[in-house]
Amino acid sequence: MTALGSNAASSPPVLSTATELRSITSQWRCHGLAVGLVATMGSLHRGHLSLVAAARAQCDRVVVSIFVNPLQFGPGDDFQRYPRDARRDRDQLSAAAVDAIYMPAVSEVYPPGFSTMVSVALPGLDRFEGAARPGHFQGVATVVAKLFAATGPARAYFSEKDAQQAVMVSTLARDLDLGVEVEVCPIVRDPDGLALSSRNAYLLSEQRPDSRLLSRWLREAQVRFDKGQTDSGSLRRLAGEIFREGRWISLEYAEVVDPLTFVPVELCTGSSRLLIAARLGGIRLIDAATLGGQRVP
Ligand code: PAJ
Repeated sequence: MTALGSNAASSPPVLSTATELRSITSQWRCHGLAVGLVATMGSLHRGHLSLVAAARAQCDRVVVSIFVNPLQFGPGDDFQRYPRDARRDRDQLSAAAVDAIYMPAVSEVYPPGFSTMVSVALPGLDRFEGAARPGHFQGVATVVAKLFAATGPARAYFSEKDAQQAVMVSTLARDLDLGVEVEVCPIVRDPDGLALSSRNAYLLSEQRPDSRLLSRWLREAQVRFDKGQTDSGSLRRLAGEIFREGRWISLEYAEVVDPLTFVPVELCTGSSRLLIAARLGGIRLIDAATLGGQRVP
């Protein structure tokens, strides 16, 4: 591809330094082209590709970053064994006609002497994922700030799957005047309701029925809300009942929260957000839905 061309027919360039990435995207911007960014940790699935499709539809050029970010993993987390499949990722992004892939090494993103941590002081970030994974959101905010700085996107695409992350990134972009429009896209699921996740690759076939309990709670909570049930306590208790059917799975939290502050609500409304996390074998599964929003299958 030429520096300015769109990448409809050839393999996208794979860039490994922020300098290379900035040099291409700054040429695009100089020519008035809007750049879209999809930030990922790779091991791409249809969920990631739905964000690429949204970026493709709304932007002139699309950059996808693939970087398993050590800063957002805690000591007991799965950084070392996080699934990685660079060749398959590149093939999928080529087929999706992205314009550049940014795949830096850890030493490029965090060279010796790196000492900046970005922290978004939203009260709700110390709950749920923030409580379960201390330091996680600082790690995400730091890498996302770096990706935004290197890419200079007009729009960046995240998903409701990581509900707290999406609100945090929107706040970061707004508070620092980064000039990035943060688009929050719907969750893509398997036909049985399980939200797609790179970590689903760890699931054993016998664990699959248990993994469906998260989306089952979301679905049944939506149905109860439709029938007029608005007290969050009964929806929390419903999760307890549903998870008693699981063989190996253990529920971490199932809560109805305000979609912006993540403070649990007593009285549910259509815009209340359902958040759920569970542990299955060595895997943490998370899922989310808006109570009066798109129906969970
Ligand atoms: P990763 O888990 O690879 O996810 C990248 C993006 O894909 C995130 O915005 C995530 O919410 C979205 N995504 C994941 N599963 C999805 C699904 N089933 N449907 C739709 N979108 C889905 O989230 C991260 O990486 C990292 O924290 C990152 C933002 C890249 C920073 O390191």
